[in-house]
Amino acid sequence: MAESDFRALDRVPFCVTEPTRIPAQRYYDPEFFALENERLWPHVWQMACRLEEIPEVGDWVEYTVLQRSVVIVRTGEGIKAYHNACRHRGVKLANGSGNCAHRGLTCPFHGWRWNMDGENTFVFGRDIFREADLDPEDLRLVSCRVETWGGCAFINFDDDAAPLVETLGEVTARLDSRLKGELKVDWWHSAVLPVNWKLAMEAFMEGYHVMATHPQLHAVSPAENRMYGVDGPDMPPMSPSASGQAYVEMMVKHIANLHEGMGGMITPWEVSLAEEVYADLGELPQEVPAAAALFYTTLRSRIQAYAKETGRPHFDLVETAAKVPFKAVEYIFPNYFLLPMFSGMSSYRVRPLTEETCLFEIWSLSHYPQDEERSAPVAPKPTTHDDPTYPEIPRQDYANLPQQQLGLHAQGFEFMRLSPKIEGMISNYQRLIDGFLARRDPEDLTKATALTCSGFDAPLIDIGF
Ligand code: FES
Ligand SMILES: [Fe+2]
Repeated sequence: MAESDFRALDRVPFCVTEPTRIPAQRYYDPEFFALENERLWPHVWQMACRLEEIPEVGDWVEYTVLQRSVVIVRTGEGIKAYHNACRHRGVKLANGSGNCAHRGLTCPFHGWRWNMDGENTFVFGRDIFREADLDPEDLRLVSCRVETWGGCAFINFDDDAAPLVETLGEVTARLDSRLKGELKVDWWHSAVLPVNWKLAMEAFMEGYHVMATHPQLHAVSPAENRMYGVDGPDMPPMSPSASGQAYVEMMVKHIANLHEGMGGMITPWEVSLAEEVYADLGELPQEVPAAAALFYTTLRSRIQAYAKETGRPHFDLVETAAKVPFKAVEYIFPNYFLLPMFSGMSSYRVRPLTEETCLFEIWSLSHYPQDEERSAPVAPKPTTHDDPTYPEIPRQDYANLPQQQLGLHAQGFEFMRLSPKIEGMISNYQRLIDGFLARRDPEDLTKATALTCSGFDAPLIDIGF
């Protein structure tokens, strides 16, 4: 097929031709998966590590995606990244994480060495090589694009890619003030899920699944917050919240449930403060919006005051909440998303392993007292999707996924059908992937990426192609 023909979206195999219909093969077809490997992953910004994983000069960590591996290093001059291959005969130089400040990065095969700036510092028996093959510039580790945002290093294999911030769109504006306070890893879980990476991402792109998948959350969601219509059969009964008092009481329970179900995201002290604020406020206004505003403003200022008193980094929660509203889930194309709440948040990253498996990671992030010594987080060993030690909410989300992956193979199942109002993000994502697979103009892809990075429950939008 001629290169120019491929720019046409409809030449992409199993392309999305009807925006609300997503062909099932996109989640298991080997040709489609190979095309993503060739045309998507080498051109997108990917969250490669949290900066707190490499706090000291010389600390490095490896990031892998499919066959590609990169080493991200903290140097005296900032964060650098290198393609992970020895310049002698190509052996992967670094595995996992470590510190190269003194001994450098040493190849396990013949012992050649590089310092953190990528300069070769040692070749065993130099005289047995031709001088021309040991040119210092040519022996340098090959640099990879790396930029930082939100306490993380992002890499891009494409030297011509637009700067990270141009691809993030409005997500940065919504999250910048919340991310300034140096969130730290509370815990980090990882699991291999028996599903295509896109299926795992899409399980979090709408709140429509809350009623059936997380009934415990639905049960304490006031009627005013339910945007998906009336309760269906077998759903927990909708709790009417006729008064401001009832609404806020339910919110306090909701906050506690979210904390418990996520094992983080909301800190235990934020839950206690919510209960305390509710008790202290006493009788609340009859009108729900007035009661909610009073409760949340008081709670936010108390969280802020507590953070300050206990030596935690903090930001103006009340002003930020008023000026910069955010969605409960904020997406960064293609494989990272954040769930902000009060002072902390959770974050998720999904990487493809095979057509029908992916690596799914969750970090719970909180603010800790600045003088508290915390060791650098280390990548956990992945467990299975049904690991009983996971917090309840992600476990509920994971439980659907293998069933969905199986169902996609069912005879007669041709496409997913999406609500353009609240499942639009799934379509926006998938059409953007088609843009990468069709090798659309890079500027159009950057603009489309910025539009597609958004909060969950987003409607179907025009991404420019
Ligand atoms: S392959 Fe690395 S030193 Fe030989
Ligand atoms: Fe969920």
